[in-house]
Amino acid sequence: MVAGIRLLLRALPLLLCCCLDAQSAQRQDPELSLEAEAFLEKYGYLDEQASKAPASTRFSNAIREFQWVSQLPISGVLDQATLRQMTRPRCGVADTDSHATWAERTGALFARQQAKMRRKKRFAKQGNKWYKQHLSYRLVNWPEHLPESAVRGAVRAAFQLWSNVSGLEFWEAPATSPADIRLTFFQGDHNDGLGNAFDGPGGALAHAFLPRRGEAHFDLEERWSLSRRRGRNLFVVLAHEIGHTLGLTHSPAPRALMAPYYKRLGRDALLSWDDVLAVQSLYGKPLGRSVAAQLPGKLFTDFEAWNPHNSQSRRPETKGPKYCHSSFDAITMDGQSRLYIFKGSQFWEVTADGNVSEPHPIQKRWAGLPPNIEAAAVSLEDGDFYFFKGSRCWRFWGNKPVWGFSQLCRAGGLPRHPDAALFFPPLRHLVLFKGARYYVLARSGLQVEPYYPRSLRDWAGVPEEVSGALPRPDGSIIFFRDDHYWRLDQTKLRVTSSGRWATELPWMGCWYANSGGALF
Ligand SMILES: *[C@@H]1O[C@H](CO)[C@@H](O)[C@H](O)[C@H]1NC(C)=O
Ligand SMILES: *[C@@H]1O[C@H](CO)[C@@H](O)[C@H](O)[C@H]1NC(C)=O
Repeated sequence: MVAGIRLLLRALPLLLCCCLDAQSAQRQDPELSLEAEAFLEKYGYLDEQASKAPASTRFSNAIREFQWVSQLPISGVLDQATLRQMTRPRCGVADTDSHATWAERTGALFARQQAKMRRKKRFAKQGNKWYKQHLSYRLVNWPEHLPESAVRGAVRAAFQLWSNVSGLEFWEAPATSPADIRLTFFQGDHNDGLGNAFDGPGGALAHAFLPRRGEAHFDLEERWSLSRRRGRNLFVVLAHEIGHTLGLTHSPAPRALMAPYYKRLGRDALLSWDDVLAVQSLYGKPLGRSVAAQLPGKLFTDFEAWNPHNSQSRRPETKGPKYCHSSFDAITMDGQSRLYIFKGSQFWEVTADGNVSEPHPIQKRWAGLPPNIEAAAVSLEDGDFYFFKGSRCWRFWGNKPVWGFSQLCRAGGLPRHPDAALFFPPLRHLVLFKGARYYVLARSGLQVEPYYPRSLRDWAGVPEEVSGALPRPDGSIIFFRDDHYWRLDQTKLRVTSSGRWATELPWMGCWYANSGGALF
């Protein structure tokens, strides 16, 4: 933000009188007010710490700001229209900074008051952008009921929407290399914080991170469709969230794709002048070509056509356990080579010959665990199960807790939110993985051994941010991330092969799914 503009904004007086509004707000149903407050807090309109003003003034200021972004009459009063607006389906990214960024983009002309909104740590600061114009992407998974070729086509079209009007270019990363932007569907809580857990149909549809984290998350339980009338149009939401991954904040401009609220496909182009201005202010105009004419929104329904190389007809209905079609939270193996695969609140057992159980609730087998976990490992030394989530850990013998209740593992130097846990047979110790580092644990499981963590470079070829790791009976270690696996030779400490686990590792229990057609 340019300092001059900020000063100018600060100097402009509020247009409406606060005292009057505060009184009318107090007449509201207190329960509705609480809900509205939670909403305003979640979306970055209320900041407890930042202002010394009385609560009622901050509340009506927040409502006023929200009304401004939502193009409602600005009254500062929690009226019916304002309440209704809060229940409309929208993007889960906070509206923080959208006023300020917009004011900057369009000049101080329209600005009425300073957007004195906190910058939420999760969706980093405005002005973040990629420092390259060629970006790769990967679609990690998608709702099972939508045909693969159509979803891939929609993703390609959504990226093209932005590259057609800016200096950006996108390409789909080959499955074996890292991608700048990853698109993933999740259910409920998925470790973005409880406030950002997905909520099923309606409410928050998706959210994404500003650069350069490169991730957009979509609510798997939303009623996604690729048609114009039924359900929630996935293409529109893809295009919006991709906008966030490129660095765009929410736009208050009428009919902007980057407006926080869900937009239908209609006669007008999907990108408004404000969207185009926003992406060009970060990445410039298309190089050496003119800005392509924009198609009317209602044309975006036939996505099979966007994918000339891969236009097989719909794949057959996929079968088999859910983890086979996306990924999992954690995986481990016990002394009988039985796999335990954890996803959300459930786990599956897979016998050595690849026979999969029904999904079981995690908390039913191991009472005292949270609803989902981040990492798990069975010690092949004593057969105990270790579970990790956040800064806590649990140890079970069978289904009996060994430590009575969860331990604060951070105290022993263990990383918070570990990516994966592994029993490493050569050392006969547990190892935790987090980002680019690994931690060898003492026998107690509660303490990191001296001289750790160390860099993952010790394990040549193992990627960062793995989602699981397993010792195999043949002496290799398998690492998992997304739809891929890497096989590490234990003695050479080097990756010797890699591929797609669901289709290439029969013991993963995705045999049924495999016989049904391609998985990823
Ligand atoms: C991008 O521009 C090309 C060339 O004008 C056009 O054929 C294509 O449909 C455009 N794509 C989108 C998503 O608007
Ligand atoms: C595999 O599962 C099927 C049905 O779920 C069962 O009938 C069969 O006995 C199982 N096989 C083994 C070896 O456990």
